[in-house]
Amino acid sequence: VRVAPPARARERELAERVVASFAGAPDDRLRHLLQALSRHLHAFLTEVRLTEAEWRAAIDFLTDVGHITDDRRQEFILLSDVLGASMQVITINDEAGDGATDSTVLGPFFLGDAPVIERGGDIAAGAPGEPCWYSGQVTDTRGTPVAGAEIEVWMADETGRYDVQYGDGRRAGRGRLFADEAGRYAFWALTPTPYPIPHDGPVGALLAASGRSPMRAAHLHFTVTAARHLPLTTHLFRRGDEFLASDSVFGVKDSLVTDIRHPPAGTPAPDGRDLAGATWSSARFDIVLAPG
Ligand SMILES: [Fe+2]
Repeated sequence: VRVAPPARARERELAERVVASFAGAPDDRLRHLLQALSRHLHAFLTEVRLTEAEWRAAIDFLTDVGHITDDRRQEFILLSDVLGASMQVITINDEAGDGATDSTVLGPFFLGDAPVIERGGDIAAGAPGEPCWYSGQVTDTRGTPVAGAEIEVWMADETGRYDVQYGDGRRAGRGRLFADEAGRYAFWALTPTPYPIPHDGPVGALLAASGRSPMRAAHLHFTVTAARHLPLTTHLFRRGDEFLASDSVFGVKDSLVTDIRHPPAGTPAPDGRDLAGATWSSARFDIVLAPG
């Protein structure tokens, strides 16, 4: 008479067979990834004692994530973001190391076709919000200026929307410029405002069911590239913002939190621009690139 092994032993035996099924994958890396995935997946399933109803709900959830994803909306990246997976991959692969500006998530609103502006130009291009003057210097980790570094910036307007969400094909709140011979840059944009990640889909439902906010801490996106240096993808975060500690995609790093200063009323703009009495702010954000 054969006695059925206890349930836990059967579970372990199944997990081991799944791991072993990938042993013949000819690519070492693929074999390593699939075997580790199998081990962790089965450890999760057995640890939480997943019910069949929960398994079906998970399949339905992932199906919904796929169905809402198209050329303009990437719900899988959003899911990766709110699970902290995007930020963890960045953290694992952060080669820049000591002295370089910290990196953070790229986010879903980078387009790569931002209009080129002159130094001192305005990227707002009609996007509503309070003007903010951004300036700084791009250097390497030894403090040497990186002349001609290419800087692309993009941001949400004061209503929390990016230009791609206007739905009319306009480009606003994004621009590309080049640092001068001393690595200096400056441009007008907007004072950053917190905004929610798209939360009308399955990822939004996940956040709501968990009592989590979809809000991102107020920020301005940067990518900075220069020959012989590692490219940098980062944000400037606004000091004092109420969502710094609860950023929905875990993107905040302390080193990126920056003062946004409001000068006394009537202070002339740094470049003499006539702001018609409107309030404005300014921020200094120096950027350090790692050798590449
Ligand atoms: Fe953003």
